[in-house]
Amino acid sequence: MLTLGVNIDHIATIRQARRTVEPDPVAAAVLAELAGADGITAHLREDRRHIQDRDVHLLRQIVRTHLNMEMAPTEEMVAIALDIKPDYITLVPEKREEVTTEGGLDVASQIQRLSEMVSKLQGQGIPVSLFIDADPVQIDAAAKIKAKFIELHTGCYAEARDEESQNKELAALAQGCQQAIAAGLRVNAGHGLTYWNVFPVADIEGMEELNIGHSIISRASLVGIERAVREMKQAMWGKF
Ligand code: PXP
Repeated sequence: MLTLGVNIDHIATIRQARRTVEPDPVAAAVLAELAGADGITAHLREDRRHIQDRDVHLLRQIVRTHLNMEMAPTEEMVAIALDIKPDYITLVPEKREEVTTEGGLDVASQIQRLSEMVSKLQGQGIPVSLFIDADPVQIDAAAKIKAKFIELHTGCYAEARDEESQNKELAALAQGCQQAIAAGLRVNAGHGLTYWNVFPVADIEGMEELNIGHSIISRASLVGIERAVREMKQAMWGKF
């Protein structure tokens, strides 16, 4: 059954705007789970612009569903992941100057390095997901390095401005999902998904988890996180 991973980074973004202690992303995780989140996602960035080390340590202790830690493929982050032991990790490309993650990881050009990293993490019982574009070459590369999951980048679909390009991007996601499953990968998706565009992605056969942050936390700032999470789950089933 399709699950929802709620990304709580933006709660930490508000806290860091004042470098204070509120709002606490850990409290947000508890409330999101009470409202039906199937998983909690947090991205510990190299520049610590939102989620802090303290957050991932506490999240590890309180998350009752599963914790997905997003991180760049660096030695520093691998060491933290091995210490925290999230339920799975998602490797994402990271640039200091970007506002949010831009595009998927280029797995094909760094097969050797990523393969060693994936085998180190998975050897310690932490499944690895690779955030990639729905590109056959990248999907092949992800299968080659034996990652357990991929997360298909839905940003191009979310940004498509007319129906024709949206359908084209959706078809690429559906094809990518089938290719990945046939290659033995499990498939998640995320980035830019909203209450209005989520259903066609949720409806792709074989999709396991959607990771959604901005849209849920934006709505939560107005109506509360529990209602925002509940409504996103409705939207995933086409009932919003
Ligand atoms: N998946 C990945 C790999 C991401 O980096 C992000 C953004 O942090 C998301 C999903 C969630 O994207 P959004 O905030 O646009 O829902």
